[in-house]
Amino acid sequence: MLKPSRLREAANLLIQGECVGFPTETVYGLGANALDTQAVEKIFAAKGRPQDNPLIVHIHHLKQLDHLVASYSPEARILMDTFWPGPLTLVLPKTDQVPTVTTGGLDTVAVRMPDHKLALELLSLTNLPVAAPSANLSGKPSPTTAQHVWEDLQGRIPAIVDGGPTGWGVESTVVDCTVTPCRLLRPGGITREEIEKHIPIVVDPGVFQTEVENPRSPGMKYRHYSPEAKVIVVVGERIHSKIQELIAQYTSSGSKVGVMAFQDSDFDYPDVSILSMGPRNKLREAASKIYGLLRQADQLGLDIVLVEGFLETDLGMAVMNRLKKAAGYYVINS
Ligand code: TXA
Ligand code: MG
Repeated sequence: MLKPSRLREAANLLIQGECVGFPTETVYGLGANALDTQAVEKIFAAKGRPQDNPLIVHIHHLKQLDHLVASYSPEARILMDTFWPGPLTLVLPKTDQVPTVTTGGLDTVAVRMPDHKLALELLSLTNLPVAAPSANLSGKPSPTTAQHVWEDLQGRIPAIVDGGPTGWGVESTVVDCTVTPCRLLRPGGITREEIEKHIPIVVDPGVFQTEVENPRSPGMKYRHYSPEAKVIVVVGERIHSKIQELIAQYTSSGSKVGVMAFQDSDFDYPDVSILSMGPRNKLREAASKIYGLLRQADQLGLDIVLVEGFLETDLGMAVMNRLKKAAGYYVINS
């Protein structure tokens, strides 16, 4: 575990072709030189990540795009100018310099400029484009603290830069800019509503779908963010009473039940563990907490986690997307 004062050591490891855990404004990433096949292979090995799931390349300066990207549309340029640095990833046509291992065999590359002081400093110390997926074991909830990275990857990677808890808590929005209109592949910190103020955009059906066979974003087809506990998301008009009903049902069959609830309703569920998402009107807070709460569910040894669903607008789209994935799309409409 490296303190921020030892950032230079982390940069040297990256330059030497090692992989390093580091904070971004969304979640912790596991970085390696995006142009070095062997370095990138170490990321896949450490995470146990399927080879066809491409990585996001992180840059600190627009100049770096020259090496990575063959061309980009005026719409892509508007998104860069508006939202970078920030939690927005753009899929663009790649150059030959980007190895296929980085892009999971695709002829496109996903790029973003993170809005995090330490991340930008680290990137500029290396002066390399750094490929970095979330720094969790494949299938586990994404890490929002250095401790989470440590729990998953200790002994598998040489260093983690500890920059404290990340800000957003959900991963970046991914937008495919190789098609017209641009296509939202993964909801995240930058919302569809914000993007629509600048360019037209469609939401890929894979964002909502349960089973995706040939997804535009390979990440869509993998089960994600899952704790050991079974997660069930409850939506609809009667969320509280439905959750109370489910608590009774699962408790009577001997299961250890927890509820991921908003602060204003947690007292409706006595006698079970409450995983609090904070006030209902503060979705930023809920976003920053969900991955930590899913990890906590396992530490508490819960068998069942019932989640209070909410509207899928603005940041709610990203947070519900992650919760539904954690639930393996087990959603009950009350
Ligand atoms: O916030 C984030 O984006 C974090 C931090 C570390 O930057 N990174 C992250 O990476 O979430 P990862 O690997 O967990 O998710 C990358 C997503 C996957 O769903 C992947 O399929 C998609 O981006 N992706 C990457 N390259 C792509 C491409 N060329 N075309 C389509 N989708 C792509
Ligand atoms: Mg991930």
